[in-house]
Formats: sequence, C-alpha cells, structure tokens
Amino acid sequence: MLVYLNGEFVPQAEARISVDDRGFLFADGVYEVVRVYDGRPFLMDAHLRRMRQGLHALRIDDPGVDGLAAIAERLLDENRLRSGDATIYIQITRGAAPRAHVFPPAGTPPTVYVAAKPFQPHPPEYHRDGVAALTVPDTRWSRCDIKSVSLLANVLAKQAAKEAGAFEALFVRDGIVLEGSHSNVFAVYDGALVTYPACNYILNGITRQKVFDLAGQLGIPVVEAPIPLDRLFTASEVFLSGTTTEIMPVTRVDGREIGDGRPGPVTQRLQRAYRESI
Ligand SMILES: Cc1ncc(COP(=O)(O)O)c(C=O)c1O
Repeated sequence: MLVYLNGEFVPQAEARISVDDRGFLFADGVYEVVRVYDGRPFLMDAHLRRMRQGLHALRIDDPGVDGLAAIAERLLDENRLRSGDATIYIQITRGAAPRAHVFPPAGTPPTVYVAAKPFQPHPPEYHRDGVAALTVPDTRWSRCDIKSVSLLANVLAKQAAKEAGAFEALFVRDGIVLEGSHSNVFAVYDGALVTYPACNYILNGITRQKVFDLAGQLGIPVVEAPIPLDRLFTASEVFLSGTTTEIMPVTRVDGREIGDGRPGPVTQRLQRAYRESI
C-alpha cells in the first residue's frame, strides 16, 4: 500500500514522521475523510474547502491543499482502488519542532499525509433497518467546527456507544442534542427536517450540507434549530449523516423507540436521493 507523505509516495511501512511532530504531541492538525465510490472520490472539493478553512482557523500555513486532489487520484491508481469502495484520508499538522506550546519557528513545514484504503461498507441492514444511538454528555472544546485530529472525546463517546450495543453516540450539551461522534443528527417533525445550526458547537458535515441540497430538491423543508433531548424522543424519524455513515436511520435512542421503531419515509427518500447523487 503506497501512501503520500511530505512530497513523496512511499510504501506505508516506510512512511516515517518525527516524534516531534505536533500532530503526535499536541493533536495540532486537521484531517479529512473522503468517500470513494467505484474509484471516484465523492465531494472532494467540499472536503478540501473545509480543510482550508480549518488550516486558516488554526493559523497553519496552507502547504498546498490545491494539489491534494491529484495526489489522491494517483494513490487510487497506484493502489488499484479504481473499483469498489474506498476512502481517502488526509491529515495536515503544524509540523515537527522541539516540544513547546507556542507555534514552531516560521517556515517550519507542515506535515502532509494522504492515504487511500479499501473501505468495508456497513452491513446493509444498518441502512435498511436502522441503528441504535446512545446519548453522552458533550465534553469537547467549543471549536467543534474545526475538523481537528484532537478526537479523544469522540473516541470515548463512540466506545461507550459500542459497549452499549449502539452504532453512534450523540453529544448532548446543556440538554441540546448537537451531533454524533462522527456524524450529524437530523430529526423529522411534521415532514420537516430539524438539525442543530452550523456554529462552533458542531462540525458542519459535508454530508449534512448534501442533505440540505437533496431536501431542497425533494421539497422537504429544513430548519436549523436546537433539538432538546426530550423533544428528540417525539420526532417521527431520526437519522445520521456522515461521509462513511451516509444517511443512517436511527430507530432507538437510549433504548427508547423513535417513531414506530422503523426507518421513516422522509429518511428513505433522502437515502434514495443520496444514492442517486453518487
Ligand atoms: C464530529 C463530527 N460531526 C459530523 C461529521 C460528519 O461530517 P461529514 O459529513 O463531513 O463526514 C463528522 C465526520 O467525521 C464528525 O467527526
């Protein structure tokens, strides 16, 4: 498996980063995951746009995000991933320098890593029959709009979900359902979608934005508004959106049934439209 690291295409086993890398020491960097369907990256431009925004927010010099799409294409070729399911992983950190909280000296090159790997899709019944979710307190910082590699709260939340037999953990802050550990959350009331507004408390998912587009095309109203946890249980449908999650019906939250406990018609229409848009 060939990967890209700092200007070179190298076998993954030979790829080396410094132990002084700020990604390793401080989680000082950003990342993106892009889904590849039948060898074609999906929504790459939107992912790269968000990566530029993240770099800007963290004041990391752009090491050449414009060139990453071509690098991803070459990795798909070199690794024979032009058919079937795959993902592209991109990570950029503030680079390697002796450990100190302050930024490294000007001119320290950011570390750029890109990998293309086969992707094992979720079992089809997850999308067909729906999944369970578990609510957890949101212990993250308040810049969740940046796709930072600092994911410890997300890791712990997802593990808690797994141990509870659930697919996803839903972060709740001050009684409001914000998003999942790696997905955004939508609820359906009277045929309209409600999801938390894009602000510093959630990641504005690329799939979330795609859902907005598809809902517009299908004539499904979308409202960006807080969803109190007790109101989530009165939704007729709940679903998740995410790059690898796609559009995933949620039929149970904290062991309680949502709607009639089956994926609802609005979610299913969006799932079909999403598939067709790929
Ligand atoms: C915290 C969080 N929210 C939402 C999402 C969904 O974003 P996207 O649709 O861009 O994959 C992710 C994706 O990893 C995430 O980590």
